[in-house]
Amino acid sequence: MKFHAFSSAARYAWSANTIYDVHAPRAFSFLGEVVEDKRHFYAFDWIQELRDGYAADQSEITLSDFGAGSRAASAKTRKVSHIARMSGSPKRFGEYLYKTADWLKAKRIIELGSNLGIGTSYLAAALPSDGKLISIDADINMLIRAKAAVKSIAPEADAKLLLGTFVDQLQPALNELQTVDLAFIDGHHAEQATKDYFAQILKHCHANSVIILDDIHWSPGMEAAWEWVKAQPQVTCSIDLFRWGVVMLDPSIRIPQHLTIVPWLWKPWHMGFFSSRVG
Ligand SMILES: C[S@@+](CC[C@H](N)C(=O)[O-])C[C@H]1O[C@@H](n2cnc3c(N)ncnc32)[C@H](O)[C@@H]1O
Repeated sequence: MKFHAFSSAARYAWSANTIYDVHAPRAFSFLGEVVEDKRHFYAFDWIQELRDGYAADQSEITLSDFGAGSRAASAKTRKVSHIARMSGSPKRFGEYLYKTADWLKAKRIIELGSNLGIGTSYLAAALPSDGKLISIDADINMLIRAKAAVKSIAPEADAKLLLGTFVDQLQPALNELQTVDLAFIDGHHAEQATKDYFAQILKHCHANSVIILDDIHWSPGMEAAWEWVKAQPQVTCSIDLFRWGVVMLDPSIRIPQHLTIVPWLWKPWHMGFFSSRVG
C-alpha cells in the first residue's frame, strides 16, 4: 500500500499541469475560484476552532466498520483527535469544499460520510438560505458529533444528517433532494461501491452538477473506480487533484477533458510563455 501511495503520488506530481495550462472555460473557472482562490471566509475561522477542539479531545470512540474507509482499521477504538486528523477533510480541501459550493451556488448538496462533521460544516456554511444539505453516515458516534458541529457552525442551514448505510440511505436522500448540484462521495472507498454510488447520484444530476470523489488514489481499486468514472459518457470534464477527483457533466464541452492539476505555485515554470495549454 505504501509503495502504491508513493508511486501514484510521483506519477501525479510528474504529469500534473496547472491552471496556466488550461483554457477549457468551466475547468478554468473552477480552478480560479476554488483551487487558486485566496479569499478567507469567517466560516474558516469557526471551523478551525472546531478542529482545535477535536485535536484536544482525547476521548475514545468505538468505531463501526461499514466498508473500506480507513487504512488503520485494525483497532476498534480511536481517540477523537486521531479520527479528526485521519478522516476529516484537511484544511485545504475543506476550504475547497466551501468554495466549490459557493462557486456553484449549490442549493442541493449530498455528502456520503459525515464523520465528525468537518466537511459537512464547510458545506453547511456555504449553503444559501433556500438550500438543503443531506449528509449520511452509519456510525452513530460520528453522527452525534457531526450534528453538534453543524449546529454550532451553521445553525440556520437546512442540513439533515442521516444515520444509516449508504446502501440504505442514499436513494431516500436523493429522492428528497430530487436534483443534486454538488455531491461529495467520501466514505466506503471500495471500487464497486464507489461506482455504484456514483451511478446512483448521476441519475439526479444536471448539466451544471459537480461530483467530487475523495481519495481517488487511495488504492488500486479506487484508481480503477476513478478511471471508470472518467469513462462515463456523461462525464465531459474531470480534474484530478490527487486527493480529489472532480467531475463535471456540462454537455456543451464536446471533447471530454481529463485534467491532472496542481496549484500553480507547485510548478511556477508553467506560467507565461512556456505553457502549452491543454483542454
Ligand atoms: C473519510 S470519513 C468522511 C469525512 C468527511 N466527509 C469530512 O470531509 O470531514 C468516512 C465516513 O464514512 C462513513 N462510512 C464508511 N462507509 C460507510 C457506509 N457504507 N455507509 C455509511 N457510512 C459509511 C464512516 O463511518 C466515516 O465516518
